[in-house]
Amino acid sequence: MTKKIVIANWKLNPLLRQEAGSIFNKIKNNIRGIKNTEAVICPPFAYLESLSRLMPRNVNKRHQKLFLGVQDIFWEEKGAYTGEISSVLVKQFGVTHAIIGHSERRKWLGETDEMLNKKIKAVLKAGLTPVLCIGEWEREEGGELPPIVGEQLKAALTGIRKGQFKKGIIAYEPVWAIGTGRAETPDNAVKAAIYIRRTAREILGRKNAASLRVIYGGSVNAKNAASFISKDILGMEGMLVGGASLDAKEFVEIVKSVDGI
Ligand code: PGA
Repeated sequence: MTKKIVIANWKLNPLLRQEAGSIFNKIKNNIRGIKNTEAVICPPFAYLESLSRLMPRNVNKRHQKLFLGVQDIFWEEKGAYTGEISSVLVKQFGVTHAIIGHSERRKWLGETDEMLNKKIKAVLKAGLTPVLCIGEWEREEGGELPPIVGEQLKAALTGIRKGQFKKGIIAYEPVWAIGTGRAETPDNAVKAAIYIRRTAREILGRKNAASLRVIYGGSVNAKNAASFISKDILGMEGMLVGGASLDAKEFVEIVKSVDGI
């Protein structure tokens, strides 16, 4: 059975290294009992080294529950790219996952579908798990899933060699739901998951898309997290959590409620 996954996107928080370590340790110590869920912490780059030292040691890969991820990655490995960071660099700190195409990067840094496509390819080449974010900026009340969701997916996965994205993750994050306290309804989230899986199958082929995971992000908290996951194979297989992931207790509750389903 594919495991569910809950990813913490700390964004540009917290401001102090001690605080980052304290949140991390609390999460680590309180998710020990989870069985079918993976938890990934994506801190600011500056904390990777110190948090990598706090990672549980000598864990058998099959039983690993806690992973370290990054919120972005550049497509080149090294060279004259001021301010950038590459997968080769972050892998030294045990990083296994990379968020790509978060709407805040599309908005504030002007990341385009073309850039994200290059980033996804670089992440796959480095053997990291990509967490590709897609989602519409606006939605009419009661409206259907806008075509931009499929367009973003196609653009990001263009030219990906068949089989490469097998372990990839696609995060459906309607932008209007991020940080607003106005999460998508569970019904619509299931519809989005079905649509995304179907579109991914068209692009990658049925076999290659069979094991990728679709997760939901946007105002997830301990109260609503479980409602997005359904027991059958149709629903979301995890969450991307922003604000609530900085509160260790709340994040642990999210992970546990997802794991309990
Ligand atoms: P939020 O953010 O949980 O604070 O809405 C989600 C995200 O941006 O990934």
